[in-house]
Amino acid sequence: MENHLKLTYSGVLAKYGELLDIPAHTQPVTLLEGNTPLIPMPRLAQELGGGFELWVKFEGMNPTGSFKDRGMTVAISEAVGRGVQAVICASTGNTAASAAAYAARAGRRAVVIIPQGKVAAGKLAGAVAYGAEVIQIDGSFDDALNLVLEISQHYPIALVNSLNPYRLEGQKTAAFEICDVLGSAPDWLCLPVGNAGNITSYWMGFKQYQDLRHTGLPHILGVQAAGSAPLVLGHPVEHPETVATAIRIGRPARGEQALQAAEESGGRIMAVSDDEILAMQRQLAASGVWVEPASAAGLAGLKHELLAGRLDLKGQRVVAVCTGHGLKDPDIIVRQFTAPKMLPAELAALEDAIMGGGRK
Ligand code: F0G
Repeated sequence: MENHLKLTYSGVLAKYGELLDIPAHTQPVTLLEGNTPLIPMPRLAQELGGGFELWVKFEGMNPTGSFKDRGMTVAISEAVGRGVQAVICASTGNTAASAAAYAARAGRRAVVIIPQGKVAAGKLAGAVAYGAEVIQIDGSFDDALNLVLEISQHYPIALVNSLNPYRLEGQKTAAFEICDVLGSAPDWLCLPVGNAGNITSYWMGFKQYQDLRHTGLPHILGVQAAGSAPLVLGHPVEHPETVATAIRIGRPARGEQALQAAEESGGRIMAVSDDEILAMQRQLAASGVWVEPASAAGLAGLKHELLAGRLDLKGQRVVAVCTGHGLKDPDIIVRQFTAPKMLPAELAALEDAIMGGGRK
């Protein structure tokens, strides 16, 4: 039994804790996050022109369905270790669900502030199911983040947005996992960018592994939605809009670091339209990987650059980070299709509809 327990995967703190810059008082609170699949995507690579290797890091397979769990286990473990009784975050949905789950795991209070009307159903349901106190404000994610920052500075309630440095420490582990599986860093990493914590973490993680293990460094392609692209436009966006509600953010907290990661890595930050995002969501699903719209943005950006002739990937290895599961946002799919047709529960009717009749 003991051996079995030792061999069992025990979450990102157990696996990579020694590589994370965290205080000694940290008390692990885990749901066995991380260790997500790196899925080879040969057909999609072919559809995009071929000649390169493509892998999807499917972060939707984390316990609450998004990459946020990697950072949240560390942020909540640190907070619990110093005796915090309550945590707070602003969120477009995934951070809320993750904070709610890890706070519940630790028996602590979670307060989540969400922007008006734009949080996908699966995320809101998660936050409620895990028992968070959910407050909607008559404002944007950016307004919510300013408010929770202010509150956390004046009350004993810990901020667990990615302004919290332990979130970034935890999210580095995805870069470690990719290098551990592939044996080195990929040539390119593409991912969606919202508040810009994740791109910052990946770059920190790859650099740390390069220093320690000489695994090389990827070029990073960060992708925003065209209606919410402050890092591409070079100024904040007052009223961000996009179908990819997870990245509907006009003033990214880690914007400077994101730009630095793109530049240092020899990559870039770009924007794609909502149509490109939804088309890539469908293209991924056609290869068996259903992700939420924001999570398709990274690959939509890669496709955009390939079509424009701005990327030569011949012989290269590309990892696309798909940050959240398709189940998070069922409405976006349901909206695109008409309801299934209703038939009588009779064999003849089904045979006719499915096989066009003509039984042998
Ligand atoms: N993809 C998904 C599915 C997300 O939920 C987010 C961020 C991102 C990408 C962008 O990551 O902010 O580190 O650049 N969601 C946050 C939230 C803002 O509140 O759940 P980032």
